Amino acid sequence: MKIGLLGTGKLGSTLGKIWAEKGHIIMFGSRDPQKAKKLANSIGFDASGGTYEEVAKFGDVIILAVPWSGAKESIKMAGDLVGKIIVDSTTTAAPHLGGPLKAHAPSAAAKVAKWAVGAKVIKAVHTIGVESLNKLQFGSQQASLFICGDYLDAKSKVKQLGLDLGFDVIDAGSLTNARLIEPLAMLWIELAYKQGMGTDIAFKLLRRRKAK
Ligand SMILES: NC(=O)c1ccc[n+]([C@@H]2O[C@H](COP(=O)([O-])OP(=O)(O)OC[C@H]3O[C@@H](n4cnc5c(N)ncnc54)[C@H](OP(=O)(O)O)[C@@H]3O)[C@@H](O)[C@H]2O)c1
Repeated sequence: MKIGLLGTGKLGSTLGKIWAEKGHIIMFGSRDPQKAKKLANSIGFDASGGTYEEVAKFGDVIILAVPWSGAKESIKMAGDLVGKIIVDSTTTAAPHLGGPLKAHAPSAAAKVAKWAVGAKVIKAVHTIGVESLNKLQFGSQQASLFICGDYLDAKSKVKQLGLDLGFDVIDAGSLTNARLIEPLAMLWIELAYKQGMGTDIAFKLLRRRKAK
């Protein structure tokens, strides 16, 4: 798949590197395109770098890997997103702020869908720490990735990307359900940072039967 990453921070760079290793074609986007090009060169695999707008044109799937505070502006910089699959990986609470963790109503993903006119928005990759993305196997268990969205074609592509990372992917239904899966990120932050469990933790949905 052609994957464009908006943001060259911890999440964008880690996801890009892993997916490049899995054979996907990666373009990093930055507010400073030179930074994106440098990152692309450092990972190899024919990855490239450019502006947010160039990345939006390039990718079939675009990962929104920016802080929530910069999400609206980043989407604006990306320009035309009609028909594109946008993965909203944002978390609306920053652990270092130390304040109360507050869910959004409507969800952050619903706001992203409003801002990214004509795009197919999928919520995903927000309930895991970047440190675990290279090691999603916990003993005999694979970490779960909860995703939701309204477009089945888009969801099946994002599901494949989740499987490529090594997740057990759980389809949590329509984008409305981002209200349900977004707060999991807050629980993760609470446990990892405030309750002292550290970042080497992940969620797992236990099932007696394999999902349909
Ligand atoms: N780190 C994690 O473990 C993790 C896990 C799951 C979800 N997330 C979520 O993923 C998103 C990115 O997290 P991250 O850890 O990668 O953050 P980060 O290391 O701070 O990187 C964020 C990147 O976003 C871009 N950006 C665009 N607008 C920005 C703005 N107004 N202010 C600052 N940066 C801006 C920057 O890239 P350019 O300068 O290249 O444009 C920056 O490098 C967040 O919403 C976070 O909650 C993070």
